[in-house]
Amino acid sequence: MLTQESISRKDFLRSMGLGGAALMAVLTSCKNTVDVVLPSGGITVDLSTKLLTVGSFIYSNGIIIARIAAGNASTSFAAVAQACTHEGTSVVYQSSGKFHCPNHGAEYNTSGAVTLGPATKSLTKYNTLVNGTTLTIS
Ligand code: FES
Repeated sequence: MLTQESISRKDFLRSMGLGGAALMAVLTSCKNTVDVVLPSGGITVDLSTKLLTVGSFIYSNGIIIARIAAGNASTSFAAVAQACTHEGTSVVYQSSGKFHCPNHGAEYNTSGAVTLGPATKSLTKYNTLVNGTTLTIS
């Protein structure tokens, strides 16, 4: 059983290294979304220690990465922007195959498309590539 902590958008942005003027610029220019900046080379995940069970998920660099099926194939994983497009709450993955926002109940499919409001805009989807036991998000 996984547990998740809720964080405010401000705390989330601070955790990404934004502070002071940069934080204010993002907060005032971007009401409901958080821009994700992928590290060069993408995000890598060691599948020998993480995302071992279907339904498990992690957050990294503003992206939620979920195991949606067994096996270490690229299609066994989904990666979308972490911040709900309604008001920015971190979404969670539910093993029924959807990303769910615990704030007002919006739901998204594994491609990030809205399947239940109040959100109206899709989550950005990222590519998943598995090589051995390394998952790369780009
Ligand atoms: S913040 Fe996600 S549904 Fe409102």
